[in-house]
Parts: sequence; C-alpha cells; structure tokens
Amino acid sequence: MSKLDDDIKKMFLPSLKDARLRKNRNVETIFYKVEDIYKNLGVGKTYYIYTYGCQGNEADSEVMAGILESVGYTKASDPLESDIVLLNTCAVRENAEQRIWGVLGQLKGRKRTHPDMLIGICGCMPQEERATNKLIESYGFVDLVFGTHNRFNLPKLIHQAYLSGSKVVEVFSNEGNILENAPMVRESNFKAWVHIMYGCDEFCTYCIVPYTRGRERSRRKEDILAEVNDLVKRGYKEITLLGQNVNAYGKDIDDGSYTFGDLLTDIDKTGILRVRFTSPHPRDMDEKAIQAMKLKSVMPHLHFPVQSGNDRVLKIMNRKYTREEYLYKVKRLKEEVPNISITTDIIVGFPGETYEEFKDTVTLSVEAGFEGAFTFIYSPREGTPAASMPDPISIEEKHKWFDELKETIDLGYLKGNQRFLGEIVEVLVEGESKSGDGMLCGYTPNNKLTHFKSDDLSLVGNIVKVKITDAKSWFMIGDLVE
Ligand code: 5AD
Ligand code: SF4
Repeated sequence: MSKLDDDIKKMFLPSLKDARLRKNRNVETIFYKVEDIYKNLGVGKTYYIYTYGCQGNEADSEVMAGILESVGYTKASDPLESDIVLLNTCAVRENAEQRIWGVLGQLKGRKRTHPDMLIGICGCMPQEERATNKLIESYGFVDLVFGTHNRFNLPKLIHQAYLSGSKVVEVFSNEGNILENAPMVRESNFKAWVHIMYGCDEFCTYCIVPYTRGRERSRRKEDILAEVNDLVKRGYKEITLLGQNVNAYGKDIDDGSYTFGDLLTDIDKTGILRVRFTSPHPRDMDEKAIQAMKLKSVMPHLHFPVQSGNDRVLKIMNRKYTREEYLYKVKRLKEEVPNISITTDIIVGFPGETYEEFKDTVTLSVEAGFEGAFTFIYSPREGTPAASMPDPISIEEKHKWFDELKETIDLGYLKGNQRFLGEIVEVLVEGESKSGDGMLCGYTPNNKLTHFKSDDLSLVGNIVKVKITDAKSWFMIGDLVE
C-alpha cells in the first residue's frame, strides 16, 4: 500500500450518494466555544479568505474569519503575505470551479518560496467527490480540504495540519447540528447577512446544492431575533435573510406552523429599517409571505427565481410549479405591493429544451415585467439527474439563445430604472462610486444602484434622499435632496 493510500484512509471523504439521503434525525442547536488547546493557535499569524459564489458563502466566510480571529489570527491585506489562505468555493456551475483551479495555480508558486504558508479549500467544491479526489491526487501543495459541514472545526483542522505536516481532509456528507454564537467578522457595519436556515430539500434536477449543503435546517426564531436585535442595537440599517429556500423556513421546527411570513412580521418589530431576503422558492411563496411583503421594513424588491417559462421544462427541472402558477404569484405580489421590483434567475439550454420552449422563457420575462435577472447557460453537475439527460443542443446554439434572452432582460433593467425618473428615492449609501468623480453610491428600497454627487464620506452607512435625474440600464443618477 502506498503512502497516498495510507493517507487517504485517514481522511473523511465526500460521498454524493450519502449526501442525497435525508436522514430522519433531530437537528440540535449547539453553542460555539473555542477549546483551550486552540486559543493561541494563530497568535502572531495572519489569514486571508477568498470568497466565491453566493451570499451564503460570503456569510460563511465572515464566520470563518471570526473563528480565525478568536484563536489569535489577524487579517492580512495581501493573500500572498498571509500565513493561512482559505478559498471558500462554489460548485454551482462549471465556470465557478474553473476559477478556483486558476487561483490555486497562482498560490502554488507562492507556496514554493513560502512553504510554511497553509492553503485550505473549503465550501461547496470539496463536497463533490470528483473535486476532492483531484485535490488529493494533483494538488499536493494544498494543506487543508474541508466541507460545508466542517467549517466550525477549523481550529482543530489547522492544528492537525501544523502537527502532521500532511494534507488534512475532512468532508462530512451529512449535515451536522446548527451552531449558534459563532464569532463573526462582518464586512460592513451597516449591512448584515443573517442566515435563517441552511441546506435545501428541493432537488431541482440541475442543482448540486442539496448535495453540498445538506438537508434543510431552520434556525430557531429566538436565535434569529436575538441576532437581529443585536444588529439594530449596533446601528445596522439593513439585513439580508439567507437560505436556499427561505420560505421553507420553519417547516422542520415543531409542527411547522411558524412560517417565513411570521418570521418577517417578528423581524419587522425589531425596528430594523430594511429587510431583504434571498432566495424564495415560487411554490412556497404563500399568501402569508405575500402579505408580509407589505411590512414597512420589507423592501419592495423580490428576487424570485423562475428558471424557465415552459411547463415541460419546469417539470423536468423538478420545480413543482407551472408558468401559470408563477405568473399568478407575480400578479398577487404586484396587487399587494404595486411598486415592487421583481428580478429572477434563469437557466438557458436545460437538457432537451427546444427553441420554442426557450421562447416561453422570453415571453414570461416580458409578462412578469422582470427588472433584472441572473441568466445562466445550463452547466452539467456530476451526480445530479440532469447531468445524465440527453442534451442535443450545441453550446454555440445555447449562447445564441442566451444573447437573445439578454436583450429582453436588459430592456427590463432599463425600464425598471426609468420608472423612477423625477422621483425622490431613499438611498442607503455604500461608499464612493467606482468611477470616482466625487460621486457616492448606494441602493434604493427597490435595489436600484444609484449614484449622486457628493464627497461627504460621513454619509456612508446612512439613508439619504436623492432626486433621480437620469436612468441607465445598470444604474440611476440623481441629486442629493437633503
Ligand atoms: N447550471 C446553470 N445554472 C445553475 N444554477 C443552479 N444550478 C445550475 C446549473 N447546473 C443557477 C440557478 C440558481 C442559481 C443560483 O444558479 O438559476 O437559481
Ligand atoms: Fe438548487 Fe433548487 Fe435548492 Fe435552489 S431550490 S438551491 S435551485 S435545488
């Protein structure tokens, strides 16, 4: 038996087959505590975290930064100068993965001259058997590989890597308990991510997430409300509630009667000024959640992933709603919140999709009046049902469809901004505009990026009034009113 085989035996490796299972066991809430032996692990050392993918990963990186700081590490400004570099990865599409292999290539050179630097890969990619095998076989310079269910063990894993001097791999295929009170280093002091649930039980046939993130687990409402109350006390203005299917919130707790709509109502009472959330599943957008969109703190913007406008494609995607049902919910939302902006996610070129079926997505986008969309060409994910479906349309053809859809979507962006021309809107100021020119920028309640002339950096983190004078596809321009 080779040394590699020996080492592999000591590792916890992922299994997509196990990850598919939804084990019927109770999820417990446990509280984070640093064990004494790890308390000084990072004293005098620095860390850097690269984050890819969704907002969930951004929030997870803030927790990992908090854990690292709790054992003495400080943040490095330059990844190449830091003692530990973590790549928090995404597996949702092939191109997200390609970027990781590229960054690893750059880090390899640095590791040659700085052998003490630890390199770790975490997040969704290690949950895939293929990716972890490749990391073990061809990326000898990577010290740590750990999955989404293992990030709270970070001090232990680092300790093992320092002690053993060989690669440490720990990827559990099934979710663990919910961890509360984990330390966090939030990127912003006025906008915060708040996870309300983890995992996904939907199993849309194209999607790897239910395998990489485990089964749906909701946080207890008292823990969420305590976090939001604390953010309000510390002056935070906006929170974004996170979950793969936020409106499945609460289904796994007690009798399931306390739902996402109830949670929004309780969060509204905390006094937080702005609440956003991502992403809801159209099937679960019930009347209570629609009514909750009218709450003062809930922003009039809904990111409402449709994926396709064709019933046959929706069915083979396992989305569990029809075009008509989706459009009905859009209509109800617009009736209750007439000013609402709706954006979406769309997949182009799902296996077996025909041009006529694709055109249904284009017409639905017009009918729904989308004011923006993240559009993706279908990317096969090994282990998912869609990856083994016949896919006769060439990638060149799919690109043509994609460009065609983009024209409609881009027009939606422009129209969505134009409707605010001449109006006074509230902007939560984020900072200086990238273009410079003495402009600041921020987002309106409808989530429209807005630039305005001012060099008063004390406005950052505050909500100001801006009169819109110009509307482009990707942003609006206005004058500060007060
Ligand atoms: N190919 C292309 N897009 C995908 N998404 C998820 N899985 C895939 C895939 N295999 C898209 C969906 C989802 C968004 C986060 O990513 O549109 O809503
Ligand atoms: Fe993936 Fe569907 Fe779950 Fe969203 S709801 S994470 S697309 S399986």
